[in-house]
Amino acid sequence: MALTGAGVSAESGIPTFRGADGLWKKYRAEDLATPEAFEADPRLVWEWYDWRRQIIAKAKPNPAHLALAECPRLTLITQNVDGLHDLAGSRDVLKVHGDIWIRRCIACGHEETDRIAPLPVLPPLCTRCGAIQRPGVVWFGEGLPAYEWMRASQAAEGADVFLVIGTSAQVYPAAGLVPLARRSGAKIVEVNVARSEVSSRVDVFLEGPAGEILPQLLL
Ligand code: OAD
Repeated sequence: MALTGAGVSAESGIPTFRGADGLWKKYRAEDLATPEAFEADPRLVWEWYDWRRQIIAKAKPNPAHLALAECPRLTLITQNVDGLHDLAGSRDVLKVHGDIWIRRCIACGHEETDRIAPLPVLPPLCTRCGAIQRPGVVWFGEGLPAYEWMRASQAAEGADVFLVIGTSAQVYPAAGLVPLARRSGAKIVEVNVARSEVSSRVDVFLEGPAGEILPQLLL
């Protein structure tokens, strides 16, 4: 199995969250990525997501996404909302933090998926009931999608080898998959340009860009 984070999309030109140029260096998560922030100012929150959608819309999968898509019998879990694993051809990607291309109605729950960026109206409105839509992502303080999380946990318990790619492994519960897999007997192989929270507890640490290392490792 593999767990990917923002670092796997860095070489596609999508900013990470915690590096030197990370989004959380410039923006406060409390103002933009919580249910309370959305309730206080849905337009502001949507402006930020719309800006990110515009960056992501221009991005293409890089050799790291493509190498993972070529790998048979791999359960792919991602914390990324950018959809680049799908574009690379990976099937059945477990998106534990949601998908930035989904808009979900806060009243009736109806979901719409498209790649429109920028959106013509902010906040966007539900085509069924007219209420405000929210981004289909997981915010701080919210639970992870139940089905994806169940499958991710099962994969961690059954994995022989667990690739941890381009994540700072600081955000739980996703980061908890690493110790869960380790306790269940998996060998942990980390790919990252820098040491992370889990690097001292992995079996193999491969230092370098995912787009260079994964094709060598997997293809
Ligand atoms: P972070 O921004 O916390 O970490 C990105 C990681 O990628 C760092 O460890 C970098 O060293 C590494 N990295 C950068 N470029 C790389 C490259 N080319 N190849 C390999 N590694 C590289 O991103 P995440 O760990 O994904 O959550 O963050 C986890 C969650 O925090 C995100 O899903 C998001 C954020 O708040 C939500 O939005 C709920």
